[in-house]
Amino acid sequence: MRDGRAPLHFAQNISEGSVNLRGVNADVAHPDPQARPVKLAPSLLSCDFTRMADDLQAIGDADWAHVDVMDGAFVPNISFGMPILAAARRASPLFMDVHLMIEAPERYLKDFAAAGADGLTVHVESTPHIHRAVQMIRELGKKAGVTLNPGTPLEAIKPVLADVDLVLIMSVNPGFGGQKFIPQSLDRIRTVRHWLDDLGSPAELQVDGGVTPQNARAVVHAGASCLVAGSAVFGADGPRAGLERFREALK
Ligand code: DX5
Ligand code: ZN
Repeated sequence: MRDGRAPLHFAQNISEGSVNLRGVNADVAHPDPQARPVKLAPSLLSCDFTRMADDLQAIGDADWAHVDVMDGAFVPNISFGMPILAAARRASPLFMDVHLMIEAPERYLKDFAAAGADGLTVHVESTPHIHRAVQMIRELGKKAGVTLNPGTPLEAIKPVLADVDLVLIMSVNPGFGGQKFIPQSLDRIRTVRHWLDDLGSPAELQVDGGVTPQNARAVVHAGASCLVAGSAVFGADGPRAGLERFREALK
């Protein structure tokens, strides 16, 4: 929410939920997760596009709206572009968190900013000029995010870690909603949480792909500060009920 509504806080006692924590290095100490507010960012990819404005209103008390832009080249799927973002912008005051799954994103950063993006996140695999892309987003006055696919070594984001406002850990291979959370993502989240804490960076640590009320606690405990969820929010009983399940799970 752009008007600074207090985000959720995370309650301490962990349940294992559907992610198997056994064997994952659970003794890595993090600064107390309770101190970290948690943002919820429903992904519009799973909304009902015949009534997008109603769905945006229904998630009006979420923190951000996550906007998945796919070009059919960087990922094996095509979603939508600037016109849909501009429509969402007109329909909602929510912070528009735009996830660019497109090749050579530098070509369109200005257009997405003009269409209403508040944050722009680019993949390290989508451009040979990730540092320039991050600088361009910042020069547009938008929040700059960097992300990487599950198979890409984390070191790839290190050169821009101090320059970004957000790091997005993909916990599925990008391109589709409704996929299963990749459990090894928990260790990647922990590692990046360590890097950000060591830097003293206020950047958001966002997780996207297969996030559900059942695994949300484990993801937040690993160090995430922002949860993207599509199919788990826009389910059969509507997005309000979907969001409420996340709030219950994180109580
Ligand atoms: C996938 C997208 C995700 C997706 C999440 O490439 O980046 O944002 O919409 O959907 P769920 O939560 O259903 O995995
Ligand atoms: Zn996404």
